[in-house]
Amino acid sequence: MKNLISIEDLSKAEILKILDKAEEFEDVALGKRKLRILEGKILANLFFEPSTRTRMSFEAAMKRLGGDVINLTAQEASSIAKGETLADTIKVVSKYCDAIVIRHPLIGAARFAAEHSDVPIINAGDGAGQHPTQTLLDLYTIRKECGKLSGISIALVGDLRYSRTVHSLIKALNLFDAEIYLVSPPTLSLPEEILDEVPNTKIADLSEVITAVDVLYVTRIQRERFPDEEEYKKVANSYKITPDLLINAKDTLIILHPLPRVNEIDTAVDKTKHARYFEQAFYGVPVRMAILTEVIK
Ligand code: NCD
Repeated sequence: MKNLISIEDLSKAEILKILDKAEEFEDVALGKRKLRILEGKILANLFFEPSTRTRMSFEAAMKRLGGDVINLTAQEASSIAKGETLADTIKVVSKYCDAIVIRHPLIGAARFAAEHSDVPIINAGDGAGQHPTQTLLDLYTIRKECGKLSGISIALVGDLRYSRTVHSLIKALNLFDAEIYLVSPPTLSLPEEILDEVPNTKIADLSEVITAVDVLYVTRIQRERFPDEEEYKKVANSYKITPDLLINAKDTLIILHPLPRVNEIDTAVDKTKHARYFEQAFYGVPVRMAILTEVIK
């Protein structure tokens, strides 16, 4: 694997290989077993948008495998503030490291970075585009917590228009013959071009599907992507998952969320048997270990 820009860069077999590898790294991710296979290697984190989990779990993954991490922190403190182009930043940073993780507000930024880099590029989110490493950890969580990946029934809830996590995940789910329900306000429905590629989806109401699905994948309304704050306010409180809503859910239903949550999952849900979003956040570490060992040679 040279770069990981889009989930479509990976075949079903390659996805499964990463998930299997992640399984082997779980005890290392927990600090129970030591492994130094990336000793002497350096990962550069280039985040042009806020991040907690993605950035820190990449860093934890690298360090648990004996590697090092360098960070481009505040843009105000780097030469970007002096007007340096992304192409030049990438050209230079790629000479300091063995792989680059990039998050950027523009769709296509990671692909663009790959054209200017001497080292592999991993897309950690390009605007409302893709977030393939999140998808791999989402799939890992589903397989782990549902006991299977093929043929699951899943509802994608919330901001389907702007959520890059959904844009990546839905394409992967399609490879695994999932039954996919789309739950969103009409103005935040899945973009047509994605719908065309994943035709076997059904538009649904939350109350309708909540009793039928194996997985509820909840997303944050992506406020920062709205051209108009007033439009955001109209849909800001469209959904809230509460324990009451879950009364008739399957016993085995799991609730996932890439996090951060704002108010779309009531904290009272955290204590229910359905909540798996914090486990999901942990699985980011072994999954990113697997990705790093595939990419860094
Ligand atoms: C997501 C993202 O950045 O797309 N966060 C993450 O990586 N876990 C989801 C979000 O910001 O809503």
